[in-house]
Amino acid sequence: MFKCPQCGKYTDLSQCAYCGFTFAKMDDIYQLTEDPGLNLDGGKGVKYLGYDRVGPYFSGRRRLECDPAGMAVAGRVAELADWGTILDLGCGDGRLAVPLALQGCTVIAGDISQVMLCLMLEKARHNQVLPTRLIPCRMNALSIPLADNSVAGALAVSILHLISEPLLVIRELYRVIKPGGKLFIMGNSPGLPKEVAEELKALNQEYEQRVNAFHRRYWELITEAGVQATRYSWEFDQHAACAAIFGNHTEIKIDFFRRDKETMADYFLYRLGGKGFSDQQGVPDELHEQVFARVVREFREQYGPDFDQITYATVTDGLTLHYFEKESEQRRPL
Ligand SMILES: C[S@@+](CC[C@H](N)C(=O)[O-])C[C@H]1O[C@@H](n2cnc3c(N)ncnc32)[C@H](O)[C@@H]1O
Repeated sequence: MFKCPQCGKYTDLSQCAYCGFTFAKMDDIYQLTEDPGLNLDGGKGVKYLGYDRVGPYFSGRRRLECDPAGMAVAGRVAELADWGTILDLGCGDGRLAVPLALQGCTVIAGDISQVMLCLMLEKARHNQVLPTRLIPCRMNALSIPLADNSVAGALAVSILHLISEPLLVIRELYRVIKPGGKLFIMGNSPGLPKEVAEELKALNQEYEQRVNAFHRRYWELITEAGVQATRYSWEFDQHAACAAIFGNHTEIKIDFFRRDKETMADYFLYRLGGKGFSDQQGVPDELHEQVFARVVREFREQYGPDFDQITYATVTDGLTLHYFEKESEQRRPL
């Protein structure tokens, strides 16, 4: 089902049945594209933001753990895709690919970022995923190297807004999904009851103020040094766009309840300190190190040495999953 880079025919891995080409692997990851990890200002053609520079800072300090929400969503996706082969496009560090493989699906974990794919494999090994269940592939979402009608389902979670022409990707997803198969997108959690939302607001007030002040001060100093925050994402209505191509849209709720809390050190500061937010990608490393260290010093002076141990509480009551089903009789994509 994979496209041979040499003869262009579709074949199984890891040697082309037609021309004998051996698919290249690096760090146990199939190299199915030669496109760069990111293609922004200087690049020609469709722009996209791969996460090579974000890397280990994307998921904070808990990155090797399977998060319970990811597990719950994966369980439902596996069931709806009848435990078939699933493409997780823009799989990142494996938040869904790893739980899906643990559910018993065969997962083609695709991403343009070699760094994120390495992290995904680390997470898979940490969680004892069977290697046969996970096929890590460096690929570009703009040209998915899979045959038409080849997978039972596909996930595209938090990737489409990182590509300047998301419709091209949705058409590619439509092409590779089998008739009757589904494209899945994880949605936002439904709103909380008013009293819970108010309780959380009060609990998190001080945290929000401190994090916002840190963020403001960091960007104030970066901007004074002549560097602007860069926003590399493209706004569009992803559900409407998928519905236009697939011709339908279903939203389901998944039962899930969780109270959690995390310190400022473990998520926000860890990610900001590692330049793990996409708007930091244009900040030169040296300037970032100086400014970050300076703001940490200022906050220690103002709030004490444990200023970063303040916690943020969350309550998740229910999860939402959207899916778009490809009709059994194939329509021509728009
Ligand atoms: C915000 S992360 C989401 C990761 C994961 N789906 C999740 O929900 O945790 C987006 C991922 O999309 C990948 N990505 C961006 N542009 C891409 C492209 N053109 N082709 C493949 N992957 C891409 C990035 O490298 C990154 O790992």
